[in-house]
Amino acid sequence: MNLPNLLEAKKRSREKVLTKTNAYIIENNLKNLGVGKKYYVKTYGCQMNEHDTENIKAILEDMSFTEALEMEDADLILLNTCAIRENAHNKVFGMIGRIKHLKETKPNIMVGLCGCMAQEEIVVEEILKKHKWLDIVFGTHNIYNLPNILVKSLKEQKLEVDVLSCEGDIIENIPVKRDSKYKAWVNIMYGCDKFCTYCIVPYTRGKQRSRNPEYIINEVLELVKNGYKEVTLLGQNVNAYGKDLNSDYKMENLLEDVANTGIERVRFVTSHPWDFTDNMIETIKKYDNIMPYIHLPLQSGSSKILKLMGRRYTKESYLELYQKIKKALPYSSITTDIIVGFPGETEADFKETLEVVESCQFDSAYTFIFSPRVGTPAAKMDDNVTIDEKNNRLQRLNNLINEYSKKANDAYLNKVVPVLIEDYSEKDSHKLMGYTDTMKLVNIDGNEEYIGKIVNVRINEIKTWSMDGEIVNDHISV
Ligand code: SAH
Ligand code: SF4
Ligand code: F3S
Repeated sequence: MNLPNLLEAKKRSREKVLTKTNAYIIENNLKNLGVGKKYYVKTYGCQMNEHDTENIKAILEDMSFTEALEMEDADLILLNTCAIRENAHNKVFGMIGRIKHLKETKPNIMVGLCGCMAQEEIVVEEILKKHKWLDIVFGTHNIYNLPNILVKSLKEQKLEVDVLSCEGDIIENIPVKRDSKYKAWVNIMYGCDKFCTYCIVPYTRGKQRSRNPEYIINEVLELVKNGYKEVTLLGQNVNAYGKDLNSDYKMENLLEDVANTGIERVRFVTSHPWDFTDNMIETIKKYDNIMPYIHLPLQSGSSKILKLMGRRYTKESYLELYQKIKKALPYSSITTDIIVGFPGETEADFKETLEVVESCQFDSAYTFIFSPRVGTPAAKMDDNVTIDEKNNRLQRLNNLINEYSKKANDAYLNKVVPVLIEDYSEKDSHKLMGYTDTMKLVNIDGNEEYIGKIVNVRINEIKTWSMDGEIVNDHISV
């Protein structure tokens, strides 16, 4: 049993991170383990977490499991969890309760928990105390070892916990079963060294480790060959890419090389304002296939709160960067993340956040109430803002954000914009859905032949969170 340890996870070793191309091996006797059995993976977290699920699915399929469409039909259920806020935690334990009932009627099902919550001591303690009936718990650093963890639990017929608190090396040969045939997630780095005082990610994902550029470029070239139209380069802090590689190769170089693979659309998330260089702005401007869409988390508009958060920029420097990007890329859309009710946030601090929102007029924003995470410095700060006040601030902030989202969308009325058609719309199966270059969701009348293509769409109706449009000419890419 390997148990998580937050103090260990906080350490940043100077040891060189190795790239391993053969660490994932599946022994012959495990290749048929899942014959006739189905798996179901439920994903709770961010894009990285979603991409991990794509790896987990492929590993399970290497063992001959097949995917179940409903959890109730599965022989193996995995919860790939997120630790970012308390409500994610509650949702997962609610689900564990539901699955326990399912197991009463289907005693042979196997159940596992993985992802960022597995890296938290309190979570594993709770599982050991109350949910020992689970079969496996593994973390974010040893996904490639899933076959062996599963077999150990099967052999010993008991809960196998295997969570590593030190991140280890970069494993390059983990298989992937991508959700989409047209757009793909591509990890460019793992972990985070920023240690914002409220955030659990540096503990659950370990130190920053950038993938070597050649592996990233080769992955994108392979995707182009297989007909993919869009890649999203993933990292908690993509602008800091390469800082740990001891070379001059930085995010702007990677962006350029990825753009030159010929993939039609390049996106990247998330951009920490701190590392956003002028060269990056120039590169985005230079390449038509780097999408004019930037997610630039603000977190707070008060420099006092930003300092307490450890964000290392001020209200003024954020605004300056924002204006610089907008000036260089006037057509771009910019979205953000904001936390309200951080310890010590006064009404005056909150008003500064509203002021920044008014000044930037973001295309949209993810807004959150501060959630104390055990082990992070902010969890120990004096928090004297009442929950009613926090809810009230969130409501006021959302009203303003929605107003500007609608305004930003209104500017698209009657314009013709490129949309990558992904699928039928979930809400209306007679419509197609896709995203503009600026990441606006568009629902469109049309048929199957357009799926997977980038087409010109005239926007003819605006809603707060989406738009409706019609295809105006034949596809512009095949
Ligand atoms: N790496 C990204 C953020 C990843 S987490 C960045 O630095 O911008 C996604 C968002 O969750 C954060 O931007 C933040 O707004 C929110 N978040 C993180 N920790 C939180 C906490 N403890 N309480 C509330 N929101 C939090
Ligand atoms: Fe968390 Fe900050 Fe790292 Fe983003 S940059 S993942 S908010 S510690
Ligand atoms: Fe959540 Fe882990 Fe992502 S905490 S936001 S799943 S990195």
